Amino acid sequence: MLPALKYAFSLLRCLVKKTLQTPKVINQLYFISFRKDSLCYPLYTKTSQTPKVINQLCFISFRKDSLYYPLYTKTSQTPKVINQLYFISFRKDSLCYPLHTKTSQTPKVINQLYFISFRKDSLCYPLHTKTSQTAKVVLSLDAGAVSLLKDGVNFKKNPKDGKCYIIYKGTGGFKACRNQCKHQGGLFIKDIEDLGGRTVKCTKHNWKLNLSTMKYVNPPDSFLQDELEVEILDDGGLCLVELSPPDPWLADPREPLELKEGEVKVTYLTHACMELQLGQRRFMFDPWLKGPAFARGWWLLHEPPADALDRLCAADLIYISHMHSDHLSYPTLKVLSERRPDAPIYVGDTSRPVFWYLEQSKVKLTNINVVPFGVWQNVDEHLRFMIMMDGVHPEMDTCIIVEYKGHMILNTVDCTRPNGGRLPQNVDLMMSDFAGGASGFPMTFYGGKYSDSWKANFIKNERKKLLNYKAQLVKSLQPKIYCPFAGYFVEAHPSDSYIKETNVKNGADALNAQINNLTSDIKTWTPKPGAVLDLGLALTDPTNSEAITNPPASAKLYKDSWDFDLYVDELNRAISCEIFKHPNWIQFYYTWAGFQNYNLVVRMIETDDNFEPLLDGYDYLVDFLDLSFPTTRPDREHSYLELKNRVGVMRHVVMHGGLWDDLYIGFQNRISRDPDIYHHKFWNHFQTELPCCGPDWDKFLRSVMICKCTAPCLLFFYCVLSLFLIDFVL
Ligand code: FES
Repeated sequence: MLPALKYAFSLLRCLVKKTLQTPKVINQLYFISFRKDSLCYPLYTKTSQTPKVINQLCFISFRKDSLYYPLYTKTSQTPKVINQLYFISFRKDSLCYPLHTKTSQTPKVINQLYFISFRKDSLCYPLHTKTSQTAKVVLSLDAGAVSLLKDGVNFKKNPKDGKCYIIYKGTGGFKACRNQCKHQGGLFIKDIEDLGGRTVKCTKHNWKLNLSTMKYVNPPDSFLQDELEVEILDDGGLCLVELSPPDPWLADPREPLELKEGEVKVTYLTHACMELQLGQRRFMFDPWLKGPAFARGWWLLHEPPADALDRLCAADLIYISHMHSDHLSYPTLKVLSERRPDAPIYVGDTSRPVFWYLEQSKVKLTNINVVPFGVWQNVDEHLRFMIMMDGVHPEMDTCIIVEYKGHMILNTVDCTRPNGGRLPQNVDLMMSDFAGGASGFPMTFYGGKYSDSWKANFIKNERKKLLNYKAQLVKSLQPKIYCPFAGYFVEAHPSDSYIKETNVKNGADALNAQINNLTSDIKTWTPKPGAVLDLGLALTDPTNSEAITNPPASAKLYKDSWDFDLYVDELNRAISCEIFKHPNWIQFYYTWAGFQNYNLVVRMIETDDNFEPLLDGYDYLVDFLDLSFPTTRPDREHSYLELKNRVGVMRHVVMHGGLWDDLYIGFQNRISRDPDIYHHKFWNHFQTELPCCGPDWDKFLRSVMICKCTAPCLLFFYCVLSLFLIDFVL
């Protein structure tokens, strides 16, 4: 009885205490309200959001903007019990998933952008501390300037630094953001097609942003824009405030120590696969050393060094940035699993697990470590690494910082907007993708404007934009050394010669030349397979020619043959699979896929390698509004897609519940669309959100067999009954 009384008393005491507190200003935007004891410090903002009662004692408060999200949203999410003591609360958008554990008492970095702090007792109150972010006024307007703001969209430039902002004036007040597209940082202009005056359009690739909701409307149903806080001042002026969480790599900083010759060596193997020798340890990135990627669409351009697989099997750590098969290569990992199944592999804690297909693949790996974002992983006293998420595809894409003796190596891999655009400056070595061409768009599109000349012109411009974007990014980050990589694939299969010839990619040398034009402070490196960079030597003297060791002149750098038949036959084995003898597979598959309530009709056509429809192939419609399978297009207004898919790859994807990346990124289909818009929601579902467990085809076949057996039985029963009735009547 006594503990219960004590507990009740403490609850009462806390309640009383809560009401006695006054909010406290922590910075110009925030104030914390708190219980004045050593345990609990919830906080909230003074702006748009109201504190929320979470349990009888404690509320959490929070602010909602695009960068900083303590705890949870006011809308859809509720605190969640994680174990018997604690709950996490969080909001989910493209970047943020804070959570906490029951063990630590101090604020903890949970991912690269956010942290929460919390109290530890039996009641558990997630909260936030005053230490986690900085607020910076990025633009100020006086009362006169504010009075001139018109309803709708206003573009404003900060005269001091020339940076551009957008202020939207609506009935509910002001909203604001940087004039910077979330995709690749393009500038917005007014969208003249929007008569409502709420939308702006990106000048780079035409994404559209509705400023009244801060949601991108093109691609439809896709991303949220990062908002700025609008503060109305007492004198009628206004300022835009950018709140920034702390940079996670600054946690526990280490002074750089001198590197000896040979102490840190970086060896390029192929595509996105690099080996870092850091003192006594070897760290391997994204080993794609064998077989194709994206079904049969991508093949290795470079010949990996002869001992590449041995190096992989000897690695102390292996980082796999994301689930795409040019980074997570099951043929490569199969070799690893046969030789060293317990090799330590590290991946980020993406919402789509990187190894979602592991069980189905039959590859046996026993030491896969999923690590939280934005937290240093200490390997030993000198070596640590931190995985961070992508700002555009946080559900699946990551990048990494490796630090050895205080020297940072940043690998942004394929991220479109690594860590939401917040990256460390002056790292010792930076590597990133550069090539482009890693999408079916527009080379696999036909009809309408998609002539060969339009495509050629389009990709030429796109390549240029990508090169500029990468060069500017590198210039702004000022790494000491920069290395473009992760773009060395070729559409080598003879059936893809059209793609190979037309899908022209950027050259690494072209990017490096552009960087060198922009700045002379960055050493650039275009590695050949097997080339080695000695980081210690390169940092001491960037002009030292001995810092880079190239492979011998006799080394074979480019592949000239690939094991096509082995992998294509494997894919094509799906064609004769039993399930496809029963047309009901279509309904079973799309029901499993779980995409509907979307006004889109898709025609799926099975084809040969030349995208000619097969006489005995399936050709069907799926209406995703109600998930029906009509024989003709519905009368209502709807979006329409026509997909011609190589039968082997399509059936392989269906059989295994694979993602449609194999078809789309792997150039294994041809696409026409009416109207000509990108259906983000549809593609995102089939490329990243399909269920992790494949369709239960055994169950499907059992149900088919039952139907087959039941039909004759019913017929027999019906006949017997008829005979009996006739006999009876007569
Ligand atoms: S659409 Fe804006 S940068 Fe690509």
